[in-house]
Amino acid sequence: MLSELVIGAGVLVIGAFVYVRSARARLYRLLTSRLAQITRGDELDLAAMATPSLPGFADRFAVLENFLPAASFAMLAGAAERLSAPAQGAERSYVPTHKQGGTLAYETLIAKAPAMVACYQAPAMRDVIGRLVGAPVRPTPIYDQSSLSLLIYNKPGDHIGWHFDHNFYRGRHFTVLLTIENTGHAASGLSHGVLKARLGEREVEVASAPNTLVVFEGACVRHKVTPIGHGERRLILSMTYCTDPRATWWQGMARRLKDTAYFGVRALWT
Ligand SMILES: [Fe+2]
Repeated sequence: MLSELVIGAGVLVIGAFVYVRSARARLYRLLTSRLAQITRGDELDLAAMATPSLPGFADRFAVLENFLPAASFAMLAGAAERLSAPAQGAERSYVPTHKQGGTLAYETLIAKAPAMVACYQAPAMRDVIGRLVGAPVRPTPIYDQSSLSLLIYNKPGDHIGWHFDHNFYRGRHFTVLLTIENTGHAASGLSHGVLKARLGEREVEVASAPNTLVVFEGACVRHKVTPIGHGERRLILSMTYCTDPRATWWQGMARRLKDTAYFGVRALWT
């Protein structure tokens, strides 16, 4: 009797696992098809991206102001405004003393924000980031929830503490943050959410105006964002690129575990 119960429970667990994996596989086929549509389309014109001279990257950290052409940036800002409304499914995360904020994952953006996906996938973006860091880069995979995400700081105290962006890929991995909105009561009408980074012995601060791009090698550069205050908002389009986006199985497992902090337990099935 006991052995039959154990066998029955085992069959149920295996059945549930197979069901969830096949549902995920169907979802990724759909998302891949949608991604192909977006990259074939003309959601965003980045041809006019003005990058005549790029800053150095010796510290593995760079800031580019007024990055996107105005019309393209306005499209992204409009999409972010719609998506940051409460009903759009942003996942709030709270890790005591370390992190508080909202996030919209890559799969949500593929479904709802083609302009953001077009920006991330644009050859012009890869070209700029590759020239900046000194090596060709590619977007990270569709199943990585952090490949492209919209970070939403809209409640008092939203922040993230000191951390590295761990690299779950074989190649070098770069974090690219485009400020979409940053409003509040600090200097120049910006929020109190300031990106701080430790570069060797010194610490730098970036109180980024909209359309500022920050690029850094997150596995090597420790960084944080200070808390926003009451009535402040900070929306950031977070993109990740990699020189070799293949991963070993243990790197994949580690990435899934990390993503549960941002996207809940469903990240285990990605
Ligand atoms: Fe980070």
